[in-house]
Amino acid sequence: MSGELSPIDKAKFVAAKRAAEFVEDGMRVGLGTGSTAAWLVRCLGEMVRDDGLKIRGVPTSTRTAELARDVGIEVISLDEAKWLDLTIDGADEFDGELNLIKGGGGALLQEKIVATASDQMIVIADVGKEVERLGAFPLPVEVIPFGWQTTKALIEETLVSMDVLGRTTTLRMNGDVPYITDEGNHILDLHLNRIGNARQLGMVMNQIPGVVENGLFIDICDKVVVGYGDGKVEIRDINAGTVEVDRLDFLEDDNLFTDLME
Ligand code: 5RP
Repeated sequence: MSGELSPIDKAKFVAAKRAAEFVEDGMRVGLGTGSTAAWLVRCLGEMVRDDGLKIRGVPTSTRTAELARDVGIEVISLDEAKWLDLTIDGADEFDGELNLIKGGGGALLQEKIVATASDQMIVIADVGKEVERLGAFPLPVEVIPFGWQTTKALIEETLVSMDVLGRTTTLRMNGDVPYITDEGNHILDLHLNRIGNARQLGMVMNQIPGVVENGLFIDICDKVVVGYGDGKVEIRDINAGTVEVDRLDFLEDDNLFTDLME
């Protein structure tokens, strides 16, 4: 392999690889979006191809659907699956209670629907995503295009009475044009710096007309698999209150890296 993966990419990879071990034959699996989730999809594709793993995947974005099909995972819609055994996804931040900020990749709406429709949600993340308190990462809020500037003003007005440190909101852009989600909506990023009461904020945001969903995932995640650049992984289970430490060999001749080589 010509280029070494960075420590962060190694951390994401080992988290994804360890989390893939929770996937069993016959499961309907929610497939997250983002660079960490992409490692997971590759790992699962390898297990389908090499070990005969039989799963059906429900992707949380068109990007993930494309990758899942490319690596040989059977893709079905959430309505076909109806309910899922397990969802594995990345996160932008997680705290000690495994509450999350998600949506940095713009897929928070499908991600929240899919995770909520699952018996279990496992988050995979490099250790840099861990925070004492949520809010340093801008909170994504998906809004419908109709009257989005009015929705933005309503959000800003609402933030005045919320326990947050910053109150700037920005429309997410894709070059010169507003970013459009898979559902045809826009995303407002809320630069809050620190969220005092994430549960309350999440509920209040969703009451504002024009808001479709926000990126706070409260009481949805069951486990987080935290990856480190040296191959160490920690599996933290919020329900059992356990932390398991593991170590994965990092094999650079792994088939997963074939398409990353030059
Ligand atoms: C996409 C997400 C991602 O899970 C989140 O942005 C983390 O991405 P990455 O694994 O690339 O750091 O919420 O909407």
